[in-house]
Amino acid sequence: MRSEFFKYQAQTTTHPLAMTISHAHGSYIYDTNQKAYLDFVAGVSAIPLGHNHPKVIKAIKVQLDKYLHVMVYGEYIQKPAVELCKLLAKNLPYPLETTYLVNSGTEAIEGALKLAKRATGRSEIISAFNAYHGNTMGSMSVMGYEERKQAFRPLLPDVRFITFNKEEDLDHITSKTAGVILETIQGGAGFIEPKNNYLAKVRAKCDAVGALLILDEIQPGIGRTGKLFGFEHYQCIPDILVIGKGLGGGMPIGAFTASKDLMDLLTENPKLGHITTFGGHPVIAASALATLTEITESELMAQALEKELLFRELLVHPFINEIRGKGLMLALMMPSEDITNKVILTCQEHGLILFWLLFEPKAIRITPPLTISNEEIIKGCSIIIHVLNSI
Ligand SMILES: Cc1ncc(COP(=O)(O)O)c(C=O)c1O
Repeated sequence: MRSEFFKYQAQTTTHPLAMTISHAHGSYIYDTNQKAYLDFVAGVSAIPLGHNHPKVIKAIKVQLDKYLHVMVYGEYIQKPAVELCKLLAKNLPYPLETTYLVNSGTEAIEGALKLAKRATGRSEIISAFNAYHGNTMGSMSVMGYEERKQAFRPLLPDVRFITFNKEEDLDHITSKTAGVILETIQGGAGFIEPKNNYLAKVRAKCDAVGALLILDEIQPGIGRTGKLFGFEHYQCIPDILVIGKGLGGGMPIGAFTASKDLMDLLTENPKLGHITTFGGHPVIAASALATLTEITESELMAQALEKELLFRELLVHPFINEIRGKGLMLALMMPSEDITNKVILTCQEHGLILFWLLFEPKAIRITPPLTISNEEIIKGCSIIIHVLNSI
């Protein structure tokens, strides 16, 4: 199958990890030689309850037996989607109460950018350097990493960049600005947290000039940082919240949430202001509903902060310069790119899955399932320390 993978399935790098998967369960992925890999990555933050969580699998199977796709988004009343949107509203601060379900994170970003333009009648979008918001044209336009987008220009006009956490740059947000889009915690940049009340200051500036604040919680959201959404740590409520990855519990999803008044703008002038065939798909919504129910009703969020402490206690080594991030969204900062690569690849040989961050070559990603046990954390960290000692 390996040669067929390289021949028939399009690649995104010349050197994919190319592990051949047999099955996955809990915190483990198994290859076709039945070798077990402890998963410290969780499909890049997309499987908060681990692999094949019984409640998620059950919800999917129950829905499979009822119906699959029946109509394009928004026309028919389908219980899994309605209940999912309602549960999100129940767990979000007012006025974030109406959710639009789509199929991926980048698509949710596209919807959020459109809504900001439609609501303000303005065109300028402000984003941050080193931001990652997805790979479609609009999302790529607000990506703050020129090297990865140069080949695809021209992109959206009227996009300006500011430096995350730099207060002076907030002067660039003006009455021309439709929306400011930020990751609550910058992911690809190296798990950079907002400092000195930064997000609250961005919020105040947006209010002063009538711009909308869009927070991208595709990675930190759904409990990973110890709260359901990262913004809850930073005294700042966005106008538009963008969600994805972990919400689906292992199924493809994206969502953007705003006030009912804002969201209603997508129904007129023009009507069908944002449309999708498969958004709100019943099987995926059922998976997401089971995932969100489990996360909001269990101790997993509180435990994420305890597990962070365990990681920080165990991962002490002269090569680990810093551990960035919050909860179970952690990045180990290595002295060089070379060491990062060696650690990730050698750990995989030793049965531990780690991964890179998009734009920070010295960072090693640790984003395990929230369900990971303390024993599994201890086991994985001992592999990391062993590998670091061997370098
Ligand atoms: C912060 C952030 N925004 C947007 C996206 C895009 O999501 P998707 O890959 O589902 O389109 C990602 C994916 O990694 C992300 O981490």
